[in-house]
This record gives sequence, structure tokens and C-alpha cells, in this order.
Amino acid sequence: MTDSPLPPAASAALAAHRHIYGGDARVAWAPGRINIIGEHTDYNEGWVLPAAVKRHVAVAGTVIAGSVTDCFSEHHAMRASFTNPSSPEHALPAYLPLWSRYIWAIFAELAALGVRVPTSRLAISGDLPVGGGMSSSAALLTATATFLTRTAGHPIEPLALAQLCQRAERLASGAQVGIMDQAIALLGQEGLALLLDCRDLSHEWIHGQPTGWQWLLFDTQVRHSTAAGEYNLRRAQCEAAVVKLQAALPDQRITALRDVSLADLDAPGAGLSVVERARARHVITENGRVHRMVAAMRADDTHEIGHLLVASHASLRDDFAVSIEELDVAVEVATAQTGVAGARMMGAGFGGSVLILARADDVNAISAAITSAYEQRTGRPGKAHVEHIGDGARFR
Ligand code: GLA
Repeated sequence: MTDSPLPPAASAALAAHRHIYGGDARVAWAPGRINIIGEHTDYNEGWVLPAAVKRHVAVAGTVIAGSVTDCFSEHHAMRASFTNPSSPEHALPAYLPLWSRYIWAIFAELAALGVRVPTSRLAISGDLPVGGGMSSSAALLTATATFLTRTAGHPIEPLALAQLCQRAERLASGAQVGIMDQAIALLGQEGLALLLDCRDLSHEWIHGQPTGWQWLLFDTQVRHSTAAGEYNLRRAQCEAAVVKLQAALPDQRITALRDVSLADLDAPGAGLSVVERARARHVITENGRVHRMVAAMRADDTHEIGHLLVASHASLRDDFAVSIEELDVAVEVATAQTGVAGARMMGAGFGGSVLILARADDVNAISAAITSAYEQRTGRPGKAHVEHIGDGARFR
């Protein structure tokens, strides 16, 4: 395995490190992800079905003396440095740009575990769209954590490391994210999708792509800076619904929307607001769709897979209210193409990408047709990319 070629992001990070800092660096890289289905279910202790892709964020680094770590981001063409924090309670230096806060937060979380985190010079490169809904932030976090734990000689088991990276993401960005992105970035396996139970982190693997079909991602190129606030608001609405349902159904063990059925929403005295009811309905029906998707994927039933993708999109748009016009248009133009089984918005929402299942033989023509129809409808350029399912984080 050691002589397999480095992914482009890793070669780029090594070249950037040589150029900026010199010296012989080691490199860690971690993938972005697609999520086949199970959106906004992870923090409701439900199920998700992501797969790692062959686009990455890579961190090349050398260890230096002292306690000031320096980092360079090729994407931002920018350097940042900080004194290594000794715990997450340390105030995050206000001058740090967001990308370097993720690195700072990994240092802080590792230090809290008692890891002697090596002072480093780190160069970061990647070929994942930043803010494209493919979890470039989780890729940066998990690549950094992989680099530092391996360099420190303190390996941490992948699911525990995913939880550490999740805490770091919350610390750095303020978004109260779930576990999906960090888990798949570390666990990913070539060709396979991960069915993850976000309550106890038990999981199984299924074949990630129906025979003769191909996952295609269409980036709307829209990014909304309010996304973290909207994300936290959705989470708070789900939690508010849980509190009301617990009071209305005291005999039922409800700790998350995972434990609730559609019928429970009508419990006398629950008194859910229209919004809370809609948010809960999305989570409940989406959890159901994850299980139906696993069955459909196992049966290679592309008709049902397509139907579930489209139903998931409608639920995210109408009940969870995280879609935007450009995502809706992308789904509409994608599903109008012959050779497309279905499509849906993917990730947190408020911009980013649409996931499309397309016939493998026609994928290039389908990409071109969607790109041109999207531009005609929105006046914006979008970007289609064929995604191949790859492995999780690696270190070399
Ligand atoms: C973001 C978060 C995940 C998950 C998705 C929505 O990617 O990081 O934890 O909640 O949004 O499914």
C-alpha cells in the first residue's frame, strides 16, 4: 500500500511545504464525502449513509522546536501562527482566520487528552470545493488530527478520533455539527458506503453504487455565510420538539427524535408548533428513507433509489427548510434528464451541492446538459463532478 501513488492533494501539500518551509515533510490526507441519504439525522441520533470520495484535504508537516506552530493554506494563499493551546478552554485567538482555527482546535482537543502535540510547520492543500457541502472542514480536521497523532506516536482509534474532531469543529466554527462527516472521513472504504447509527456509532458497510450507475455531484457554487446560524437553529427546533414530546409521552423513552414516530406527533398535549412539527416530520421520514435506501441499494433497485433521493429533497425543502432556489433548480434540471434516476440537495443546505445518480455510460453528456440548463435558469455557472468512492484518512 505504501507505494500506491499519492492523491493530488497530498502531492500538492508536500510541494507547498517544500516551497514555504523547506525540509522533508510527512503528509496526512483525508477525503470529502457524499451522503447518499440521511440528512440532518445525525444530531437527532438517527442514521446516515455517507461514502468517502477521492478528493481530499492534505496536511504536510515537519516538527520544529518551541511552542509556536505555523501553518500555510494554499487555498487562501496565507500563513497563520499560534502558540500551541494546552486545552480547549484556552481562548481561541481572535486574529486567527477560520481555516487555521480548525487546526488550533485540534491542538487544543489533543492536548486535553494528554497528547504531547508536536509543534509543527504545516502546509495545507486540497482539491475539495471549500463550502461546497462535501465537508472540506471535516477533511481538514481529520487530516490534521491524523498527522499530529501519528507524528506524536499516539494513534487514536478512528471513532474516538472522529468524536475529537467533531468537538474541534464545534469549537472552531460554532456550528453544533453531528458526527457524520468526521466519521466517514476517517473510516471511509473504497467502493463502500457507511450505514452509521449515530446513537451508538455501530455501523455496517454496503456496496456504494448501483451497477452501471454513477454518483455525480453538481456544485451550485452558492455559499451562504448564515449557514452555521441556520444549522444551530434547526438543531434547537428539533430539541424543542423532543422536550415537548417527552412531557406529552412520559411512558415512552424519548431522548431524541430517533425515538419518535409520526403518530407520536399527534400526542394530546404535545403542542408542537407548526415549525417544530415539520422539522420532526423530516427527521422521522428521513430515518425511514435511510433504511429503505439500504434495501434498495442491496437490491440494485435504481427506480426506488431515485424515488428516495427525490423524496428526501422534498422533505429537506418543505419540512426542514434548508434548501435554496439554486438547489431546487439543480434538482429539477437533473431529474429532467434521461438517464438520471434521482437527485437531492446534499449536506447542511443553504448552498453547496446536489447529489445525482446518473447512468454511467451517459454521465458526461448528462453533466454537460445539467450544467447548461442550470446556467440558463439561474444565470450562474455550476460545476458537475463525477465522484468515485475512496478510502478514509491516511498518513505517509
Ligand atoms: C453538516 C454537518 C453534519 C450533518 C449534515 C446534515 O455536514 O457537519 O453533521 O448534520 O450537515 O446532514
